[in-house]
Amino acid sequence: MKYTRKDFPDDFLFGVATSSYQIEGHSFGGAGRTHWDDFSATPGNVKNAENGAIAVDHYHRYEQDLDLVAAAGLDCYRFSTSWARVMPDGKTANPEGLDFYDRLTDAMLERGIKPCATLYHWELPSALADLGGWRNRDIASWFGDYTQTLMSRIGDRMYSVAPINEPWCVAWLSHFMGYHAPGLRDIRATARAMHHVLLAHGTAIQTMRDLGMDNLGAVFNLEWATPADGSPEAQGKAALYDSIYNHWYLSGVFKGAYPANVLEELEPHMPQNWQDDFPTITTPVDWCGLNYYTRKLIGPDAGPWPALKEIEGPLPKTLMGWEIYPEGLYNFLTRTARDYTGDLPLIVTENGLASPDVIENGNVDDPQRIAYLNAHMDKVRKAIAEGVPVKGYYIWSLLDNYEWACGYEQRFGLVHVNFDTLERTPKASYHALANSLRR
Ligand code: FCB
Repeated sequence: MKYTRKDFPDDFLFGVATSSYQIEGHSFGGAGRTHWDDFSATPGNVKNAENGAIAVDHYHRYEQDLDLVAAAGLDCYRFSTSWARVMPDGKTANPEGLDFYDRLTDAMLERGIKPCATLYHWELPSALADLGGWRNRDIASWFGDYTQTLMSRIGDRMYSVAPINEPWCVAWLSHFMGYHAPGLRDIRATARAMHHVLLAHGTAIQTMRDLGMDNLGAVFNLEWATPADGSPEAQGKAALYDSIYNHWYLSGVFKGAYPANVLEELEPHMPQNWQDDFPTITTPVDWCGLNYYTRKLIGPDAGPWPALKEIEGPLPKTLMGWEIYPEGLYNFLTRTARDYTGDLPLIVTENGLASPDVIENGNVDDPQRIAYLNAHMDKVRKAIAEGVPVKGYYIWSLLDNYEWACGYEQRFGLVHVNFDTLERTPKASYHALANSLRR
């Protein structure tokens, strides 16, 4: 790696991120059915119709996996807790599930790792999907109950908690584009999900405050929108994409308002009295997390609103086909602090890439990953040098895992996983990172 710890402020934290459904193995420990099990069982939704039933068996191998986190010299482990494991029907506690997260928490602390939890990384219990899932306003109170049940058990030992990973994915990607569970393509469902996901966020923050917890945050996925050309039409569509993808959620949580260029179309589809929910949605948080991977070139398209399209860009791409654009991370860190969060700590809660990693003579050489991380750390340093309060950088991901609709094809890990034997092999990037972070 280009940098070591010494190139960052003393209190800067390095971490690695994972999520429950992508690694644990949902067939273990009494976890309930999730809408990802349903989505992946429907032909054409997921590469090879793969699911997270086994994933990488982290449920049984978590100690070995946490040894890898500790040996890399990482400070933080950003993990997620599965709603369907804690409450298989979405409402009734599963003692085995609670016990698992209790053991996992203690195993982090024993190794000197800071537990950074996310309460929801997309594994909605199917029983709640049956009730309308994110379309149903009651999801906010169901989510509050889940938060209460789980955090009453492990909240005393969390370093930090965020309620929901990536509200854009929960709402737009899953209810408008149909690429993720529940696979809807419905503007009305989308508007409701876009609002309820933030209401659930605020409800969970209030629940945890009532439990006396602190260091609570929100995690957004941000994607830089570049106009495909110099035309006013392309600029307008890039601005609209930016509002749908980025501003809606940041503005909801930090300003208690939604961007006008989105609202003018979605207003008829919003739930009743949505404006009254902003006092809950804007419940203050202690930090803001940014997940950043790429940018999109955006231009106008025929058809109904939003009448925009993504155009293939010229930059080098990762295996996901995502352009590598580190400037976007710098742009977001500076813009988020300037327009939304001020002095609030910012944390890069996910950043990383998929590459076609293979084991050769016992080693996995992944120079692209090292170059990607270096290029993005450059931008974090640049933002810090300009006074932006960036306090942490977490890599996605520790392990190769279930990459949602892409199945097991996209390898994002610092550690290679053989999906047949489940053997873990640290990649060259893992060793490089460990050399630069070990104290
Ligand atoms: C993020 C998700 C994570 C993973 C990475 C590649 O949007 O939070 O689960 O899929 O992308």
